[in-house]
Amino acid sequence: MDKIKAAYIQCINPDCGAKFDCMDVMFKCPKCGELLDTLYEWDKIELPDRLSDFSKRWANKNNRLDFSGVWRFRDLLNFCPDSCKVTLGEGQTVLEQNCAIAQQLGLKPDSLHLQYEGLNPSGSFKDNGMTAAFSHAMMVGAKSCACASTGNTSAAVALYAHNCGMKCTVFIGSGRIAFGKLSQAMDYGAQTIQILGDFDDCMKQVQAVCSKLGLYLLNSLNPYRLEGQKTIMYRIIEALEWKVPDWIVVPGGNLGNSSAFGKAFYELKQLGLIDRIPRIAIINSTGASTLADLVNNKKLSWNNGRVDRKIIDDYYADLTARKFSPHTIASAIEISRPVNLKKCLRAIDVCNGVVLAVPDSEIKDAKALIGKYGLGCEPASAATIAGLKHLIADGVIDKNARVACVLTGHLLKDPDLTVNYHREKQGLLANPPIEVPNDLEQIIKLIG
Ligand code: F0G
Repeated sequence: MDKIKAAYIQCINPDCGAKFDCMDVMFKCPKCGELLDTLYEWDKIELPDRLSDFSKRWANKNNRLDFSGVWRFRDLLNFCPDSCKVTLGEGQTVLEQNCAIAQQLGLKPDSLHLQYEGLNPSGSFKDNGMTAAFSHAMMVGAKSCACASTGNTSAAVALYAHNCGMKCTVFIGSGRIAFGKLSQAMDYGAQTIQILGDFDDCMKQVQAVCSKLGLYLLNSLNPYRLEGQKTIMYRIIEALEWKVPDWIVVPGGNLGNSSAFGKAFYELKQLGLIDRIPRIAIINSTGASTLADLVNNKKLSWNNGRVDRKIIDDYYADLTARKFSPHTIASAIEISRPVNLKKCLRAIDVCNGVVLAVPDSEIKDAKALIGKYGLGCEPASAATIAGLKHLIADGVIDKNARVACVLTGHLLKDPDLTVNYHREKQGLLANPPIEVPNDLEQIIKLIG
């Protein structure tokens, strides 16, 4: 049996459940408009008996797919033939045990782990998804693609597009993107369109443009992207010597990651490759807190796929009536109409998840803490540590729990914010540069 025939697309709405072939290019169910999943007939796929068998592939550095931290696990996302798979060596990321930050937060020293997705080729976790989505784009023969972005998606799309020889257009909200990310999109040759609006406006426009012009859409509505993002969880388990942590903490924006993580764990459990599913904590900024509001205040839940649409519609109608536009220094997660909301609710159900919103001031201090004791990250990523602090203080996460925080983007993505934090002494860990005359004695005195 051709392995690819074991993969298909299915609508997540249980009252629809329409199925489609992976060669059909679609990003929402054409029958009911709901989100789509990439699914597999597992009994037709050859899988290892144990997850640990995947690590044998690490030794094959010369095999480009074994070298990729995404495609090393290709049997768990097998929707296209190897010949179509695009890779730039993504997923060579590390899980760092960080005792200093654990102690600061009151966790057991050996129990906090930071998953550095900023080490990817374009500097963020997005590459995990793009390698998968671009492989699908190559399989279906797409020539032009597009995305809306708060920055990192545009950088990753631009990078993979030029490597695939595809034309690419990225939509960003004017003034809503950190400079590191904007510089990548332009340098990698994307047609960069700045809309006078926010991410949600861009998302709406890009969907219309893609359907009118037949462009291949690379936002996380694309179900293949989320397949690639599942591997972040495989790598965390791998780094923990194939043991599942107690908690995953992740920032929530368009909610692609949290959705992908829930699917990853659900599938691994279903396949008998893990014995339990970790809990998930999804962290919003208080300036863009749709998920926290809907889950914590409006009690929205997955409800076996029959999500109460009225709660969402009323919430969005209120945002519109108030002309609300989200604002946070964590520009990556400055989103108030997350497209993967329903899949994320499913992940919360699967992983017994919690949601929390943290203020910008705490995100900034958490970012400086990660910089001081770790490899650094961009503001959205630091929402994890800011959120974790609350969850420990509130007794939601136990001091002895094994926690993995996903640091989604590199420190250098948003240099302005970091420089301003330190120079203008904006927070508890500000470390401003000290000006000194060009004089050896005075320099020595200062250092001494
Ligand atoms: N962290 C970073 C660094 C991001 O760039 C994003 C999303 C998120 C977290 C949120 O992840 O959407 O899976 O919940 N950035 C998108 C972009 C929206 O356009 O670059 P999510």
